Amino acid sequence: MNINWWKNAVFYHIYPASFQDSDGDGTGDIRGIINRLDYLTTLGIDAIWLSPVYRSPMIDGGYDISDYRDIDPLFGTLDDFRELLKRAHDMGIRIMMDLVMNHTSDRHPWFIESRSSVDNPKRDWYIWRSGCNGKAPNNWRTNFFERAWRYDAITGQFYYHSFFRQQPDLNWRNEEMKRAFFANIRFWLDMGVDGFRLDVVNMLVKDRLFRNNRYRPFRKIIYNRNQPETCNIICEFRALLDEYPGKASVGEVYVFRPGDPKLAASFLGSGDDMLNMAFDFSLIFCRWNARKYYSAVQSYYDALPSAGWPCFFISNHDMGRSLNRFVPVRHAHEKARLIAVMLLTLKGTPFIYYGDELGMVNAHISRKQIRDRYGKKLWPVFSGRDRGRTPMQWDGSINGGFTSGEPWLPLHKDFRRVNVEYEKADDNSVWNVYRKMIELRKTQPALQQGEIEFIETGYKGVLAYSRTLDNHQIWIALNFSSRKQAFIKFPQNSIILFSTHRKIAENNEKRLLPFEAIVITE
Ligand code: GLC
Ligand code: MG
Repeated sequence: MNINWWKNAVFYHIYPASFQDSDGDGTGDIRGIINRLDYLTTLGIDAIWLSPVYRSPMIDGGYDISDYRDIDPLFGTLDDFRELLKRAHDMGIRIMMDLVMNHTSDRHPWFIESRSSVDNPKRDWYIWRSGCNGKAPNNWRTNFFERAWRYDAITGQFYYHSFFRQQPDLNWRNEEMKRAFFANIRFWLDMGVDGFRLDVVNMLVKDRLFRNNRYRPFRKIIYNRNQPETCNIICEFRALLDEYPGKASVGEVYVFRPGDPKLAASFLGSGDDMLNMAFDFSLIFCRWNARKYYSAVQSYYDALPSAGWPCFFISNHDMGRSLNRFVPVRHAHEKARLIAVMLLTLKGTPFIYYGDELGMVNAHISRKQIRDRYGKKLWPVFSGRDRGRTPMQWDGSINGGFTSGEPWLPLHKDFRRVNVEYEKADDNSVWNVYRKMIELRKTQPALQQGEIEFIETGYKGVLAYSRTLDNHQIWIALNFSSRKQAFIKFPQNSIILFSTHRKIAENNEKRLLPFEAIVITE
């Protein structure tokens, strides 16, 4: 087995509720995913990151887990999951689970025990503090800027929650809790899952002294995340993972604009003692600007330890659809094609958010249709994350082929033109760019493993770089601008491996076309 498979793999992120419904209840499920594995093979996907499918009261789309060793009935059963794992493995597709270590659901038996009395053996498994004169223990706020301490009348103390109050934070300074949690991780490793995406990995440990945050000037000193002790926990996690050869891990390093490549890279440790990969959000926060993209990518490379490996993503279930960020959204599909080429030619493992390969865009969600509680709470300031979580658009039939029932979220109204069936048949579709580029990446080892060197760093909107492995070299040029641009100097006799705009045979246009992405070799 190639234990570094994840470096060559193309990952696909599935939000289970929205991928494929199999039982007509309007919510996607595990059987639905099984039925669509063929699709992933056609696209050329090697591995899936599955957002949580554990048993959950679904206060936060499954990120509030009440049983880490079971599947929620909404998605199916443990046997369904085992079958998914087996069928996927038979087809050469690996499966990474989402791992929520920072908090559980308040319905988790651990928390029910913990809150029952101050001397319960599990009291210290969560973060309990007394307030002062009836006020919260300190000024910490949740990620959505609400008070992060919740008074619990049973014992007259406050517990801490980084997200909803139904998601109490675990106390990672407690050894017993850590052992119990690690046993849960083992459960899935023993079953054969291929690794984990770690949720908000930089938030696990909080300041030992519970010092007040200084929120001004803008989030200056923050004590409820990014604590150095997190490193020890991740190292232990990695040691556990290493007992099972060939597993992979990727961490979500939760930060605000403009992203923090150094912090993300710090979760790789020396390169082989912490996580395999870490998500840096810089690209997500970039405006449509070649220079900005360049500096986001380059700062991430610069921040990595020498044995570290990068990864890239352009959207996920929290951030809304990438196309809506390519402002102005004119030419959005051309931009999506260019970004597909970039994602699949940069040095680093690409993660594709389901539906991005179609060029899906944010849907309009009316107030009545909002399902994300953040949307319900913060509307109209923030309408929540639903708009980027709408059902996968498979075909032009009713509900886009997603469900025979009433979909849990409305489909985007463009589903009759933006769907798998339609785009497969259109050689110029976003989907076909993804498919062809994934294939090209597989047949050109330089695109997987090669070193990267930038040739153009955004001048006049052009980004260009080379990928080199042994003596083989590939050049990539991306024209972010709406004008023709001078070609960078390619070697004579070069051949076009791929272009978003021209037929390979017609190589007489000497300039890059507007929004063209081109891949060339000698
Ligand atoms: C992560 C998840 C997000 C969730 C939060 C709390 O940021 O991506 O969906 O709400 O963690 O678990
Ligand atoms: Mg269902």
